[in-house]
Amino acid sequence: MSQRRYSPFSFCCALFIPLLFVHHVYASTSSTNSPQVQTLNTKPDIINPKLPPRTLSSSKKFEGSSDLVHLRYHMGPVLSSAPINIYLIWYGRWANSQKLLIKDFINSISPSTVAAKPSVSDWWRTVSLYTDQTGANVSRSILIAGEYADSAYSHGTGLTRLTIQQVIASAVRSAPFPVDHKNGIYLILTSQDVTMQDFCRAVCGFHYFTFPSMVGYTLPYAWVGNSGKQCPEVCAYPFAVPGYMGGGGPGALKPPNRDVGVDGMISVIGHELAELSSNPLVNAWYAGEDPTAPTEIGDLCEGLYGTGGGGGYIGQVMRDGKGRTFNLNGRRGRKFLVQWIWSPELKACAGPNALD
Ligand SMILES: *[C@@H]1O[C@H](CO)[C@@H](O)[C@H](O)[C@H]1NC(C)=O
Repeated sequence: MSQRRYSPFSFCCALFIPLLFVHHVYASTSSTNSPQVQTLNTKPDIINPKLPPRTLSSSKKFEGSSDLVHLRYHMGPVLSSAPINIYLIWYGRWANSQKLLIKDFINSISPSTVAAKPSVSDWWRTVSLYTDQTGANVSRSILIAGEYADSAYSHGTGLTRLTIQQVIASAVRSAPFPVDHKNGIYLILTSQDVTMQDFCRAVCGFHYFTFPSMVGYTLPYAWVGNSGKQCPEVCAYPFAVPGYMGGGGPGALKPPNRDVGVDGMISVIGHELAELSSNPLVNAWYAGEDPTAPTEIGDLCEGLYGTGGGGGYIGQVMRDGKGRTFNLNGRRGRKFLVQWIWSPELKACAGPNALD
């Protein structure tokens, strides 16, 4: 998402989930046979209430018209070798159940996953439609190739865009992770007690690449924080809604895995992985004239999870027997709610739970 107010380094490739305004929520009759579709009407707004609200939701604008989007390829690489190797860094305190949930999501991406439809792997297919100049597609398979836990908060409980690279450097030295220039990426996940520069205020996650001076070499990475304690109404929306909209009350949707913070992270992780894979060095797929503030394939569909989404409405998604909201199935019967991705084929936001 473009963040032109800020310096390029600080804000390239950040995901900011816009604060949405809920008009009302209603559910269809919950007979077990009818497709259980839940709708949530929201109006887009910007996090700073002093800023004028956008007149058009970006989702609606982009879903309805491809003319306004000039997503272009800028000749750089995409992550095309299979599998994409993810090196996970758990920073802070993580419950095993939370780690399992996130790993189940990542491990659901590869096409060999056994999962009901619409599946996470079907969702990633849209990402795999992006190619580099040799015609090679983004890989369809993703593997967790290594993990490192920094439960001692070795770089403190408040991180910045620069110190996060020190976290990676420490992990790379102590894990040790192989230097995986072919298809390696780092994913740094911070627990709910860790603050990050501009977390909640402007970003829920971001991706960039490491610098040789800090980490020893250049590799793409992404950071996503657990917003559960700090700002679920911003970064775990729609599982939490702002106080003026009733806090965690009737406006909020039930998270599929009963963990507002981590269920909220899943969509942000999906967003960042999609962008890392199609724009790992920030010189491949993005829209906009300014490479320091690119609009990428996840940014274009922020806040949109199903058919009809736009204008602040998340779109038609499913609801399980316990009233929990989801739009994708994963391995081991998992359910997730993950935003749609811009499709280069359809020139619109796309997801496997589309009704048309
Ligand atoms: C690769 O991307 C092209 C262009 O989007 C698409 O037509 C093709 O189906 C993709 N191939 C695979 C194997 O996904």
